[in-house]
Amino acid sequence: MNDTVSTDAAWRQLHEAATAPYKKAGNFAWHFARGKLGRDPVFRGLIERGLIGERRRVVDIGCGQGLFASLLSAMAGMQAQPGRWPAAWAATPAAAEYTGIELMPKDVARAKASIGHLEPAPRFVCEDMCKAAMPACDLVVILDVLHYVDHAAQEGVLRRVHGALQPGGRLLLRVGDAASRRGFAISQWVDRTVTRIRGHRVSPTWGRSLSEWTALLQGLGFSPVQGIPMSAGTPFANVLLVADRAKESSSS
Ligand SMILES: C[S@@+](CC[C@H](N)C(=O)[O-])C[C@H]1O[C@@H](n2cnc3c(N)ncnc32)[C@H](O)[C@@H]1O
Repeated sequence: MNDTVSTDAAWRQLHEAATAPYKKAGNFAWHFARGKLGRDPVFRGLIERGLIGERRRVVDIGCGQGLFASLLSAMAGMQAQPGRWPAAWAATPAAAEYTGIELMPKDVARAKASIGHLEPAPRFVCEDMCKAAMPACDLVVILDVLHYVDHAAQEGVLRRVHGALQPGGRLLLRVGDAASRRGFAISQWVDRTVTRIRGHRVSPTWGRSLSEWTALLQGLGFSPVQGIPMSAGTPFANVLLVADRAKESSSS
């Protein structure tokens, strides 16, 4: 850690380190990684707010080309070098054990071609999240994914996530707030456009309001559940839900 290194400078270095491996997989993979990591406030937001912690076993559902794995690795590399990690940022895992679950074979292929060489090696599973096995884990990340499946399937995924998380584990779930009609409609439109550009079929999507998402998570046993607006600088109505699996009580 370092009192003088600025968080802006550290973020620029992380952005560079986490996106550079994608050059190997071609222009699309590289430009997509640079644009997504640079413009989407969620990645830096997780770091600034210390939401990852030192949770080592990570499952990233709907991981796309594995950008979060690359960021975890870049963060570990920066912390391993004295004086480069800002004092204001909490530590993240020195060697995360990462599993990415992704439906689209092309995304998994890009992920493997770009960051398959990292140490420890990230694992990518090309499967539907509604059926894929959930490994025991400390952190689950689901960013802009659950709206692709219907309400019953969303609940099924979240129930299995709760079961896979170890006591003290955390779910970081970003969703659109369907109660915020304009922002939600814009994010749905952008989502459909990007899906088309990536060469995928556009299917219907299923939303919930923020209070419905919160109630669902609480009903499944997550506690506490905290909602953080997570669309600064964009026209969307995205919210990051931080949902913890309680530590087991020692008195029982
Ligand atoms: C909007 S992208 C978000 C990618 C990544 N989470 C991020 O934030 O950069 C949604 C991803 O979820 C994947 N996806 C959609 N339905 C899925 C399913 N049933 N199982 C696994 N992945 C799915 C899509 O293929 C896509 O890569």
